[in-house]
Amino acid sequence: MATEAAARWLLLHPSLPQSSHKKQHLIFASLLLFASLQSFHCYAAASYNEQEADRVAFLPGQPRSPQVSQFSGYITVNRQNGRALFYWFFEAQTLPSKKPLLLWLNGGPGCSSIGYGAASELGPLRVTRNGAGLEFNKFAWNKEANLLFLESPVGVGFSYTNTSTDLTKLNDGFVAEDTYNFLVNWLDRFPQYKDREFYISGESYAGHYVPQLADFVYERNKDKKANRYINLKGFIVGNPLTDDQYDSKGLAEYAWSHSVVSDEIYERIKKVCNFMNSNWTNECNQAMGNIFGQYQEIDIYNIYAPKCNLAQTSTVAVGAHAFEASDQEQFSKRIRMFSGYDACYSSYAEKYFNKPDVQKAFHANGNEMLPGKWKVCSNSILSSYNFSVLSVLPIYSKLIKAGLRIWLYSGDADGRVPVIGSRYCVEALGLPIKRDWQPWYLNKQVAGRFVEYHGMTMVTIRGAGHLVPLNKPEEGLALIDAFLVDKQLFTNR
Ligand SMILES: *[C@@H]1O[C@H](CO)[C@@H](O)[C@H](O)[C@H]1NC(C)=O
Ligand SMILES: *[C@@H]1O[C@H](CO)[C@@H](O)[C@H](O)[C@H]1NC(C)=O
Ligand SMILES: *[C@@H]1O[C@H](CO)[C@@H](O)[C@H](O)[C@H]1NC(C)=O
Repeated sequence: MATEAAARWLLLHPSLPQSSHKKQHLIFASLLLFASLQSFHCYAAASYNEQEADRVAFLPGQPRSPQVSQFSGYITVNRQNGRALFYWFFEAQTLPSKKPLLLWLNGGPGCSSIGYGAASELGPLRVTRNGAGLEFNKFAWNKEANLLFLESPVGVGFSYTNTSTDLTKLNDGFVAEDTYNFLVNWLDRFPQYKDREFYISGESYAGHYVPQLADFVYERNKDKKANRYINLKGFIVGNPLTDDQYDSKGLAEYAWSHSVVSDEIYERIKKVCNFMNSNWTNECNQAMGNIFGQYQEIDIYNIYAPKCNLAQTSTVAVGAHAFEASDQEQFSKRIRMFSGYDACYSSYAEKYFNKPDVQKAFHANGNEMLPGKWKVCSNSILSSYNFSVLSVLPIYSKLIKAGLRIWLYSGDADGRVPVIGSRYCVEALGLPIKRDWQPWYLNKQVAGRFVEYHGMTMVTIRGAGHLVPLNKPEEGLALIDAFLVDKQLFTNR
């Protein structure tokens, strides 16, 4: 079945807001002013209490030191239908009141930013082997930012909806709007971040979520009256699905150029596949199926890494199931496959986050509202997701003009969303070059290459797969540091 078709592209102490208005306003204020200050005071106190209720003192199996300032809980994004998204937030390790706010999103669609981003990749607490406990990650991105992980959309991880028909309506627009509502309501609970510089990051299918959310925020920010201004400064995406044509072409070329398939297969693909058309013909599906067949033998997400040979749990099984399920779907000639996730890590996370004491400490699944176990990737979300947007490049053009800081990075050993396709995407934007393609360095070694355009920067990470912060944690941290403070990567050995 796998060879029949190809993959559908398709993861502080909180400073109480200063309530300096204590006594003096009683003397000077008019009744009206008095009333409004009073309500501000109540509001601030209420948000502080809500915030403290979300504080996580200590998670089962967490190391005693260093201390980690963390919060987690639900934010309602749609009252009428009862939709709530689950977040995990870490204050910056030092000077949290000076550091920006960074949101991280994983893709899938259907994969959890807590299971992957936070607990396997860039969070300060990562799940240990076999899901026994947590370990401190010394390359965590909350060294550089206040770091927010969100499980999105509803149906992913601990996030849920009380209206099951919502789950049949998921597409990029739906996700962007719910995520925007999450941000607005989260900032009400954490008002000390309201004016903070805000950046959005993510990987894989979040290559769609991130620019779409940035665009949504940008448009909503135009409504000055709404008083919901979010201080968005830019976004950064890793191994991102960006444009279906270029990503597909890149996948085929990468497989051939990295000796995954023969010249004959590649010649056939070139002959029968027109990637400009999003509907692949049967001939193209069969030819591309040869690539996916080979990628079942190795790890498509990191082609030089050993394959995870744990008993086939979770993602692998889910992936295989997805292959069969979508064969019967008529509207898409392509197979759906998660963008980017290693079964070994998913099984550790699934062990850990399904423990009742962990869920309790985590403020998750309180009324046991989840229909089943917590899963790192949801197969049903993947198979029902409406892939109606084939390219987010027009959003790039728009937001580059708007002056947002935009970076794209790529682990160059990823076969799923390979660096070749990302290069085509970036080149298609037609931006003038500011600094030529050249190496960047870390620890006296070439860490990757980068090219700077007027309007955006592209960076590669040498030897990393789809999950850059997992494979190359030190390089990943250097990268996010350079992005957030808008400085150049090291160009000297
Ligand atoms: C969903 O329903 C449960 C049970 O009625 C309720 O406790 C919960 O608050 C609802 N969630 C939202 C976001 O409205
Ligand atoms: C792709 O196929 C679907 C269903 O068969 C059809 O509705 C759609 O118009 C096709 N798109 C293109 C670009 O050919
Ligand atoms: C998918 O989303 C598009 C755009 O939002 C919409 O026009 C279309 O009807 C949706 N398709 C399905 C099957 O829900």
